[in-house]
Amino acid sequence: MKRKHSLVLVPLIGLSMALTACGSDDSGSDDSGTGSEGGGDAGPGKVGVILPDTESSVRWESADRPALQAAFDAAGVEADIQNAEGDAERMTQIADTMIGDGVTVLAIVNLDSESGAAIQEKAAAQGVATIDYDRLTLGGSAEYYVSFDNTVVGELQGQGLADCLGDKEANIVYLNGSPTDNNATLFSEGAHSVLDEMDNYTVVGEQAVPEWDNEEAATIFQQLYTAADGKVDGVLAANDGLGGAAISILEGAGQAGKVPVTGQDATVEGLQNVLSGTQCMTVYKSATQEAEALAEVAIALANGEDAETTGTTVDSSDDSEVPSILLEPQSITKDNVGDVIEDGGVKAEDVCSGDFAKMCADAGIS
Ligand code: BGC
Repeated sequence: MKRKHSLVLVPLIGLSMALTACGSDDSGSDDSGTGSEGGGDAGPGKVGVILPDTESSVRWESADRPALQAAFDAAGVEADIQNAEGDAERMTQIADTMIGDGVTVLAIVNLDSESGAAIQEKAAAQGVATIDYDRLTLGGSAEYYVSFDNTVVGELQGQGLADCLGDKEANIVYLNGSPTDNNATLFSEGAHSVLDEMDNYTVVGEQAVPEWDNEEAATIFQQLYTAADGKVDGVLAANDGLGGAAISILEGAGQAGKVPVTGQDATVEGLQNVLSGTQCMTVYKSATQEAEALAEVAIALANGEDAETTGTTVDSSDDSEVPSILLEPQSITKDNVGDVIEDGGVKAEDVCSGDFAKMCADAGIS
């Protein structure tokens, strides 16, 4: 189906009032933190958000959920945030219930484009506007896409691995994300665009990890490692979970810390691995920024207004252009782990627990 940017929405009584916490009639309140409380009596429209799972990355529950809740609370908009637990049918049921409950805007992190597109089509039929959060739904009908620049994420990973490997000849294994996740394609393309330019590197194995499953990633990496006779000098792992899986196998082979491994999400575990030297880098994507961007777009849609975008993203399935807000990811190495903590991405006490206290102190993190 064709994307329509001009979806006509039933105006939301009360939403704009709830958004202007200080009683001004002026709309366009795009800032947060006004301290208004959700759920004014006029009953602002409810926004539904469906997160994908709890296993492919800890980010969804530990970073996105609290950031989303905070962003919607700050805007005084009621949000129903649920998690599909890795089950596309469950996501469909949650979406049906949310639509039945009268959400006016529905944001999803799809588990695959097909089920995501079906959810969006049903929502549109009920006059509910949809947003792709973090993952683009190919062939979908979302009005907006809110994410980070995922090609840049891959480029940072590629460059990070190159920085850790240096000029020597090196054999690289790629552990890519789920084949059903458009982001995984972009991460891999971004990384290849950097590493393929360097003629001292050879790809000795590359595989996508279904559903970003960390356990399966360990099995896959073990197979690739064995097939390469253990002659692996660097691992381009698409996120911290997959990186951790590769590190566990490298540990068994006595190679952890000697073979650089990349990651993404700046999770507590990923940052600890960066501090201890078993992981060469991770990519930080502020959940606060992404959640606030989503809240702004959702509110604009609910008000029948256009949201501010940074550009468009091409849906490779039909070449349609989706108005997008793409944020800037940040590369994290041992030198700037503290940036993630300062930005509130993770807590120092979580990263610097137990054995990591000394590593944090050495890295100037308190
Ligand atoms: C997200 C990553 C995440 C991965 C697994 C991707 O779509 O952009 O941040 O690590 O999914 O959940």
